[in-house]
Amino acid sequence: MKEKFMTKIRKFAKECMGKVPAHGYDHAFRVGIMARNIARKESLKKLYLYEIAGLLHDIGLDFPDRSKHGEIGAKKAYSFLRQETDLSITELSEITYAISYHNRKLSAPKHSLILDVLADADTLDLLGAIGIWRGIQSRADANLPSPRQVAAAMNRFEEYNKSRKDKRENNTHSIAEQINFQIQSAKIITTSTGKKMAEPLLATMRHFRYMIVEELTQSK
Ligand SMILES: [Fe+2]
Ligand SMILES: [Fe+2]
Repeated sequence: MKEKFMTKIRKFAKECMGKVPAHGYDHAFRVGIMARNIARKESLKKLYLYEIAGLLHDIGLDFPDRSKHGEIGAKKAYSFLRQETDLSITELSEITYAISYHNRKLSAPKHSLILDVLADADTLDLLGAIGIWRGIQSRADANLPSPRQVAAAMNRFEEYNKSRKDKRENNTHSIAEQINFQIQSAKIITTSTGKKMAEPLLATMRHFRYMIVEELTQSK
């Protein structure tokens, strides 16, 4: 892929991102680089396809119904890439298929390596110190909960279940619930490279979760 096309794609991603907390261009950029690195370590070909999918995966987030941001983003990405790059039709459909299902991978009708790698990279950006930072950013208006509330949330949401999804989508959940959701999301990681990368990041998050209960308990 020629650099002039990559420059255009990065510029387009920059214009589209930043409408939702914790989803600025920096998220798109990191997911692009991470997807490319995972693909390289997994010995996959055409690394640019993975980077482009990462850069553009969240461009549909300006659509009010967040649950549709994958498919909306895929449509936007298709028309942009078709007009502005020399990607083949096959490459275009591979990238946009991954974008379309990145937020509902389990309902994807067919297997796709780009989807696996993209979902792994996107999930890894929810973990570790960056994941904690983004989690708090997404609930920047929330105060620290009481130690009892945190401890209860930790137990209750160790198995983060579907019934909490509404709460999360309405942004009425606590920071503790958000961190738990992020830890649970690592279950979806598929590639062995992604799994390896997730280990220290998950340890960081579990430590944070442990420490926040400890510190709040001490200060009560
Ligand atoms: Fe997304
Ligand atoms: Fe994302």
